[in-house]
Amino acid sequence: MTNVVMPDEGASIPAKEEQTKMLDRAFREWGSELSGRVAVVTGGARGLGRTIAECLMRSGAKVVAVDKSWEGADAFRQELEAKNGLAVTVDITDDAALDTAYELVMAQFGTVDILINNAALVSETLFYPTGHRNTLDTTDEDWQKMFDVNLFGALKVIRRFIAPMRANGRGSILNVVSSGVLSVSSGGAFYGLRPWTVEMPYQATKAALTALTFYLAEEVRTEGIAVNALMPGHTRTSWFDDTARAFNDIDVVYFMRPAVAEHVLPCTLFLASQNAAGATGRLYYVPEWNYDYGYGDYSAWLDHELPADMEEGYARLEAAMPTYERSGVPHLPFDAQGALYAAAMANMGSREGWAGGSAQ
Ligand SMILES: NC(=O)c1ccc[n+]([C@@H]2O[C@H](COP(=O)([O-])OP(=O)(O)OC[C@H]3O[C@@H](n4cnc5c(N)ncnc54)[C@H](O)[C@@H]3O)[C@@H](O)[C@H]2O)c1
Repeated sequence: MTNVVMPDEGASIPAKEEQTKMLDRAFREWGSELSGRVAVVTGGARGLGRTIAECLMRSGAKVVAVDKSWEGADAFRQELEAKNGLAVTVDITDDAALDTAYELVMAQFGTVDILINNAALVSETLFYPTGHRNTLDTTDEDWQKMFDVNLFGALKVIRRFIAPMRANGRGSILNVVSSGVLSVSSGGAFYGLRPWTVEMPYQATKAALTALTFYLAEEVRTEGIAVNALMPGHTRTSWFDDTARAFNDIDVVYFMRPAVAEHVLPCTLFLASQNAAGATGRLYYVPEWNYDYGYGDYSAWLDHELPADMEEGYARLEAAMPTYERSGVPHLPFDAQGALYAAAMANMGSREGWAGGSAQ
């Protein structure tokens, strides 16, 4: 078995303190821009949305967190409301509920400056807990359900909350998408960045939202509004532990160690503070953005505080992974990640890999 040296991991395990230091710097850099602003975050009760809502609150923004369910999030709801924020229960596919929420926000805060379109179904929540069905094994209803939330829901939210931004001549809209929408070229024709992750209809919805981002940005540029999209890395959010454990039960490690949700915050603070005079019509992959802006490479944000049963699997996987070195990139290229993952699973004696990352 080959020893593991993840090229961007360095000699020591990245410490929580390093992440805290980077976050403190991000707040110093952009936090003051956001103080007093009104920010709407969809899917704000848990996962990435909650982490973003907390971050905007820490910046002094007035935060409206919208979610279809607040189950298990009572403490956060109370904290939000104690800090002059608002927690709203709304299914973003419901026009009437969105109208009511919009009126409530305008009555309470009088305007909206920032909109984070984060609410979504992911493959693991549509096909809970393991996700990942081949395209021909999905139904039309699966596609309808996912497009209703991830595309039409986001559009319904934009249609309403952009109105005060247009009136003010400034604002920032941020759509959360996924790197699975990307295509790349190694010199010739383009091909999918990582179709082996098996994620239809999810990635189709995110590709549509990405296209909407580019076109809307151009259409509202002269009205002062920035519209951007952000692609998080592989992140431990509300569904992650159930999914990882479901795979553990069949002796499969659920892909690589995830990042902590906080890895999206420096880029989110930067984008939330934009208007059309700054960055607009951009699509950022968070790990690349972090690297370029001095917020660490991918390994700096990995989650080293997993529960013991999950830690055991990821530690074994990392110990079984062959060495791959490459300079000038903040994380391994995706095909290399897939190949190394499959090799590590094979080294561990497993014939199965996660989703398309077969070890055979
Ligand atoms: N976790 C990752 O690795 C990852 C990677 C890339 C992109 N993303 C994106 O990040 C965003 C957040 O994902 P997450 O991993 O935190 O998921 P999550 O399931 O933890 O959080 C999603 C939130 O959206 C809410 N929501 C879902 N449908 C809704 C609806 N119809 N109306 C209102 N709220 C609704 C859920 O209740 C939940 O609170 C999504 O847009 C997802 O596509 C996540």
